[in-house]
Amino acid sequence: MYDRGRSLVVAYNQESFWFSSDEVAFPSQIHEVHHLKASRVYCGRLGHLSKFENGKQVTIDQSLGDRRSHFSKTSNREDTDDTSATMKEILEQETVLSKAADAVLLHEKDLKNLFDSKKRIYIIGCGSAFYASEIGAQFLQKYTSIPSQAVIASEFVSQRPPLGGDALVIALSQSGETADTLVALEYAKLQGSPIVSICNRAGSALTRVSDVSLVLNVGPEIGVASTKAFTGMLVQLVFLSLIVGQANDQATVQEMDLYRNELLELPTKIRAMLQRRGEITRLARRLRQKRNFLFIGRQCSLFLSEEGALKLRELSYRHASGFGGGELKHGTLALIEQQYPVFAIAPNDHSIGKMRQSIQEVKARGGKVFGILSEGDEVTQNLCDTYFWVPRTLEMFVPILMVIPLQLFAHDVAKSLGRNIDRPRNLAKSVTVE
Ligand code: G6P
Repeated sequence: MYDRGRSLVVAYNQESFWFSSDEVAFPSQIHEVHHLKASRVYCGRLGHLSKFENGKQVTIDQSLGDRRSHFSKTSNREDTDDTSATMKEILEQETVLSKAADAVLLHEKDLKNLFDSKKRIYIIGCGSAFYASEIGAQFLQKYTSIPSQAVIASEFVSQRPPLGGDALVIALSQSGETADTLVALEYAKLQGSPIVSICNRAGSALTRVSDVSLVLNVGPEIGVASTKAFTGMLVQLVFLSLIVGQANDQATVQEMDLYRNELLELPTKIRAMLQRRGEITRLARRLRQKRNFLFIGRQCSLFLSEEGALKLRELSYRHASGFGGGELKHGTLALIEQQYPVFAIAPNDHSIGKMRQSIQEVKARGGKVFGILSEGDEVTQNLCDTYFWVPRTLEMFVPILMVIPLQLFAHDVAKSLGRNIDRPRNLAKSVTVE
């Protein structure tokens, strides 16, 4: 009998049963997959599963059955070929991101109703989803004027944020099964706050507890390290901010049109970067023996620096930290010595003057600076030892483009070190324990 609130999925064929918290784990030869429901009794005989409620056998809901999906069929692929699932997912960003906005635009009315008269917004997530939450909080605060705060999901309950009906919680999770996020949402629900979720898995536990559920539509993500789901989340947060911004008279119809049109341009811009990915591969080969890396940025790029560092830690097992450029002088400069590698995520926006200052602080101590820069920013190019240019785009789309070279770098360092890219040691794709 399964009676906890968490996900438990059973798969079976004529010979075996498999239990898992996520169907991603199942082998390819399964016959049927069922998401078990709480407080039911299930009885399995080879090739057959029955369900009992109040002592009576009931029919298993076929709509949840036979979910031999793409996940199951591809999940057990090994990294025997040259191209990992993670690399495929990085490359897919060229084509899949334009679909991510659809769910948000489809739920425009529901979202406007849900955000109406809200006084506070909390955005929660773990890992990459948390860094997307940080960026989303900046977008929402700018376009809605509603105080918006990102909170690490595992800290949410203990921080006891003021919730209630006038607070809205937005939960981000690729898998929709992350226990830390689900526990935080149970707490928010008990306090009467409505929930919007952004998730890549329709039917996951997260979507089931949400008042409005936005599905990313970027296709299954197999690699443990999140790539296309992260950028998909950013796309949805852009359009969510614009929709709510319009309702609050903070965003105009023209802005929405500009973003919708630019979304169609993103594939070309991403392709232009991917065509130059050899530059990143060469840099990764040069730096692969380095054991420590720093990533710096300001404003939204601060959170990209954290995401770039997380990606490198997850995939290559090298130490990396990301933080605000302004913080260098408050302690971390002590680390900088000859050849110390520092990535500067420095889009040419109003933070660029201060980022140039941070780059000079590193250079003056003998550090090596690798810039992720806007196309044509020659002043910053001349300050860096090496740079990778990123096509210009609208302000809220900048993080989407700038994170891609960071994903490629983490991947290429890991590959040159012979790491298991899709399944890094000690990590799981769905973390279903607190
Ligand atoms: C794990 C993964 C991370 C991921 C995090 C959140 O820790 O290793 O890559 O960002 O879970 O997962 P979620 O499915 O909630 O987005």
